[in-house]
Amino acid sequence: MLSRAALSSSRTLVPALGALGSRQKHSLPDLPYDYGALEPHINAQIMQLHHSKHHATYVNNLNVLEERYREALEKGDVTTQVALQPGLKFNGGGHINHSIFWTNLSPKGGGEPKGELLEAIKRDFGSFDKFKEKLTTVSVGVQGSGWGWLGFNKEQGRLQIAACFNQDPLEGTTGLIPLLGIDVWEHAYYLQYKNVRPDYLKAIWNVINWENVTERYMACKNVLSSSLLNLGICIHLAPVCWPTPITDYWKSCVQ
Ligand SMILES: [Fe+2]
Repeated sequence: MLSRAALSSSRTLVPALGALGSRQKHSLPDLPYDYGALEPHINAQIMQLHHSKHHATYVNNLNVLEERYREALEKGDVTTQVALQPGLKFNGGGHINHSIFWTNLSPKGGGEPKGELLEAIKRDFGSFDKFKEKLTTVSVGVQGSGWGWLGFNKEQGRLQIAACFNQDPLEGTTGLIPLLGIDVWEHAYYLQYKNVRPDYLKAIWNVINWENVTERYMACKNVLSSSLLNLGICIHLAPVCWPTPITDYWKSCVQ
């Protein structure tokens, strides 16, 4: 699969695509639960269409576009390469975002996070309720189609809320590492909640998989600790070891 790191900049995109001839195409990941498992909060019809039609379309389009990009790359056709990039961003973002989204949800979800994630939420937002209110407000307020996100700011080592339009991937457009994404495209809720997006937002908190969000947070936190340690080693050893080791660490933080 093309990683989020690979889509984050043209610098990494080109070498990743250059190796397409020898790698497998992207595929639709299985849901870790049944289509009806999130009822009554998100019904089975929404989940089936969302996963098997919408997400599948992003995957299929991404594979076609990557093939065309590879051909353009081989021909040295820069005009076509540039023309393909909005489609790669949209469909690559759609694949990345939904792959995260499915794991952020669980029939055993809801409630509040525990441990270090809860402490970080209290530190950065004041309380869990204030965090929930802010992410809800930001997500409801997305004009048109898009996503509300809880992300990890690796420069500041703290949590941050952001909104993204369309299928813009969080890391590729803001630099934040995605922890929790809320899909506010109408295809995510319209069949059950019609045009009342706030009701969908109210319901989705009942199926948030805090274990998954915590795993993502702890992975980023551990990478940050390792990076700081690595920075200390680099300063003592030689400038040539900077910044490659840290870049590798961050790549391991994303799926
Ligand atoms: Fe979606």
